Amino acid sequence: MSINWYPGHMHKARKEIMQTLNSVDVLIEVVDARLPYSSQNPIIAELRHDKPTIIVLNKCDLADPDITHLWEDHYCAIENTKTLVCHQKDPQKIRKIMSLCHDIAHEKSNSFKAINAMIVGIPNVGKSTIINTLAGKIIAKVGNEPAVTKRQQKINLEHKIILHDTPGILWPKIENPNSGYRLAISGAIKNTAIDYEDIGFYAAEYFLTTYPQLLCARYNIDALPNSPIELLEEIGLRRGAKQSGGRVNLHKVCEVILHEFRNGSIGRITLETPEITQAEIKKVKEIQIEKKALKEKRKKSNKKS
Ligand code: G4P
Repeated sequence: MSINWYPGHMHKARKEIMQTLNSVDVLIEVVDARLPYSSQNPIIAELRHDKPTIIVLNKCDLADPDITHLWEDHYCAIENTKTLVCHQKDPQKIRKIMSLCHDIAHEKSNSFKAINAMIVGIPNVGKSTIINTLAGKIIAKVGNEPAVTKRQQKINLEHKIILHDTPGILWPKIENPNSGYRLAISGAIKNTAIDYEDIGFYAAEYFLTTYPQLLCARYNIDALPNSPIELLEEIGLRRGAKQSGGRVNLHKVCEVILHEFRNGSIGRITLETPEITQAEIKKVKEIQIEKKALKEKRKKSNKKS
């Protein structure tokens, strides 16, 4: 899957993040509860070191609650890390981020100094919504097209907290192809940069194996077909997504299932578990080692000849 979504301002953002991270007390990383690993930024993980961090599993209203628990446990096991599971309709819960900032930066919280917290998150995870809830007013623009925040800003919150906002950055290269698909399914990647049929096919395959009951209920299907293509055709027939000649318009069906996944109409679905992602990370590392060895081998044979 080829994705072209790395706008120029994101390079600048990386540099700014590095500088800001060194000067703050707490890092608040917002992730999408439906794809916590894929919606994290590896650059942040690389730059974070042991900075006290709050992982905010946002959009939990759309995620599978059982798997969200698994992710909570996963992050809680990481040193200097706290987690908060929340969604936009529960502002009280979102505002708990402020008390967590004090808890995690405890050496500072009893002093008169303010706590400096930096909030990061890839586009579309709901970072602007969270900032507005914490600030109690509209500061950041909420919108459905990714990469809305373009410049850093400082926001004075209650309880002696200064929030440093950063542009929504993604990483320059998605090493794990499954993460690329999941990000595209979730809407984190601009719609113009994705191939609907490719993404829709991946989603259909995953839903078919992991959430068959939700599909049956949503699309009124008694016996699900075995393959994603048959499933898409079945949904297309039920939704009248036909093209000339009576064939199902696959592009349209893929649009339907992606849209209905994104707004939660299919049900509460999570696209990855800690176990799945651990196995994928291992595989990616193995491929990287193989590629490196191959490169070295080629280099040596080029030198000889
Ligand atoms: P960003 O700054 O990280 O890019 O995200 P932003 O807050 O702009 O939110 C992106 C979209 O996600 C918005 O929807 C927003 O309403 C939605 N959203 C944010 N938090 C949650 C949540 O906890 N649950 C659910 N279900 N949705 C959430 P939109 O349709 O793009 O915009 P709008 O129509 O809501 O204005």
